[in-house]
Amino acid sequence: MLPWTLEDIDLTAVPVANGEAEETLALIIAAASLVESASHLYTSNLTQYFATDLEVSRWLIEHWEPEELQHGRALRAWTERAWPDFDWEATFKDFFTEYSMLCRLDSLEATPALEMVARCVVETGTAALYRSLSTLAHEPVLRQLTSLIHADEVRHYKYFYRFFRRYQGLEHLSRWRISRVLFERSREIRRDDSGCAIRHIVRARGTGKSSTSSQVNNWTQAIHRQVRQGCPYDMAARMFLAPLDLPPGVRLWVSGGLAIGARVAMQGLPWRSHRAWADERPQPLG
Ligand SMILES: [Fe+2]
Ligand SMILES: [Fe+2]
Repeated sequence: MLPWTLEDIDLTAVPVANGEAEETLALIIAAASLVESASHLYTSNLTQYFATDLEVSRWLIEHWEPEELQHGRALRAWTERAWPDFDWEATFKDFFTEYSMLCRLDSLEATPALEMVARCVVETGTAALYRSLSTLAHEPVLRQLTSLIHADEVRHYKYFYRFFRRYQGLEHLSRWRISRVLFERSREIRRDDSGCAIRHIVRARGTGKSSTSSQVNNWTQAIHRQVRQGCPYDMAARMFLAPLDLPPGVRLWVSGGLAIGARVAMQGLPWRSHRAWADERPQPLG
């Protein structure tokens, strides 16, 4: 049932990480492996929420969850090859204790169509993340792995978007209500999912020393900066805005404007020198 398996990836070809850029990438992959490995929390909430919708709940159980959990296993396997000192099991245990408190059934949206909008935002974020990582990765196995996961995330988005259209045909939500979910959920992903995972990864990296909040912030900024460098802003803006069903001419202008605005907000102005980025590199924790 899975579009690819771990046997398709030659993990023995993964070298041990060295160099700062690769080290930051290793932290990002490790953080992603934690969130993906906890996907079953969401499946359980979503299957309860959509219990009467057999098409949705079957797809979630038979396709979505196995694929997301495979992402977690594959990213974990890569992390353990590239970063042998990292204690994945112990870090995941700590992460899961905190993260499971955030994944509550009552945090789902008020209506099925709005929950599908929220799922589209999540899949847009993961599709953009793995596309960015596949662009930035110099290591061929990581490039292959992140490209495969990117294709899965785009397919997940298409399914959630199709389910959204079906529910929207019944609910007729206003663009205002949809926009609120789009922006609120984007903020939550950054604060809850990636924030929680990065915090635990940075703490794990500083084993034996207490990681101060400024060290966590420093690495969080470095990680976000790295991801932004490969971010497919145009693709992400189109996927993000699709649930609003804007008229074609308006859609072109709004998604173009959003992509440019996001690029400037995330990466700074185009004339900002590379030297400025280099000056902002985090100090090693160890
Ligand atoms: Fe995933
Ligand atoms: Fe996904």
